[in-house]
Amino acid sequence: MTREAQIRTPDQLGKVLVLNGPNLNLLGQREPHVYGFTTLSDIDRALTERAERAGIALETFQSNHEGALIERLHAARNEGFDFLVINPGGFTHSSVALRDAVLASDLSFIEVHLSNVHAREPFRQHSYFSDKAVGTITGLGAQGYLLALDYIVAALSDNLDPGKA
Ligand code: DQA
Repeated sequence: MTREAQIRTPDQLGKVLVLNGPNLNLLGQREPHVYGFTTLSDIDRALTERAERAGIALETFQSNHEGALIERLHAARNEGFDFLVINPGGFTHSSVALRDAVLASDLSFIEVHLSNVHAREPFRQHSYFSDKAVGTITGLGAQGYLLALDYIVAALSDNLDPGKA
């Protein structure tokens, strides 16, 4: 039996880790004209509800510390996750170390940004993650996280659009 099979319960479709980087704990209060009024707790609650309905075990983790995010990814190597959703916040544009930790986790991942980073300052237009992501969702606000989860549910159910298989 694989380690994953041991960790997953028989009625579970899969296990997903959602990581949020620095300043995202302030969603709803921080620059609402850019990031909206939805809080991170609202997002986590909506994700958890949708995951429960789909038979996904979902864990969310936010930190303002690069090292804590890296440590969480190291631990995730042995926790049977199937997919990662990550909004690295400002580390998107600066952190080789967090990129390395994502790659070390060996998890397929979707990169999410609430704002459209391509329509903002030039320094936000480079990501240390996008070239390794299964896909990126940017500019769709809090909805982006739910769309990422919908994709993962379809992928784990083997129910993908044939063009994307
Ligand atoms: C962000 C975009 C980043 O450029 C910024 O540093 C963030 C949030 C987003 O979700 O739009 O903190 O990742």
